Amino acid sequence: MDQQQMKELTGRRAVEILVKSGMKLGLGTGSTAIPAVRHIGALLARGTLQDILAVPTSFQTAIECEKLGIPLFSLNSREIGGSLDLTIDGADEVDPNLYCIKGGGGALLVEKITAYASRAYAIVVDETKLTANLGTGFPLPVEVVSEARVTVTRALEGLGAKVVLREGVRKAGPVITEHGNILLDIRFREPPDPAAMENEINRIPGVVENGFFTRLRPTVFAAHSDGSVEVRN
Ligand code: A5P
Repeated sequence: MDQQQMKELTGRRAVEILVKSGMKLGLGTGSTAIPAVRHIGALLARGTLQDILAVPTSFQTAIECEKLGIPLFSLNSREIGGSLDLTIDGADEVDPNLYCIKGGGGALLVEKITAYASRAYAIVVDETKLTANLGTGFPLPVEVVSEARVTVTRALEGLGAKVVLREGVRKAGPVITEHGNILLDIRFREPPDPAAMENEINRIPGVVENGFFTRLRPTVFAAHSDGSVEVRN
């Protein structure tokens, strides 16, 4: 099974096991979360699922839901009331504590707000995302108010990180997030304690949010190339 097939498989499996009619759902962003969204759309179209209220974590996910006819709300909508039954999302890396790095697609801010407002949290990944530790491999994204680019860079370097400003593709200059901020992608020389570092980075003035997700114990669905899906929680 290739990586795309693993992404499709894990998303579908999580939906089949966890999603029930009537749920308020947070829907994640990225190439692994979108197949899960599409599966929810297909089950709604068939009538197997009913009365789903969805909160998207990005423009990408909102557009996909619009195409599929999945009813969209915001976390602030009266029908949602700021809390969700379940969020399903992808991740860039997952460690043995089930701590994650997210934000490779730049949507970490609303992904974290949504995740931390959910009673249950599921992460869908393929086996390539399972790592021994976080912070030295896949770069940790940090969303920053543009006025604080240099001061935050210095502060992150002071925490032992190498910092790279995320540049646009087919757009000159930095990536601007859906909330008007820039992204700094950082790598540590030594693996940090992700839970402590999640808090430490957010204490820097000008940091909006960072891509360590450590305050939840997700159910992780990890697809393997032999066609199996391992469930860790
Ligand atoms: C989006 O900002 C991210 O947090 C994604 O959930 C994460 O990057 C995983 O994306 P893929 O499933 O596309 O690898």
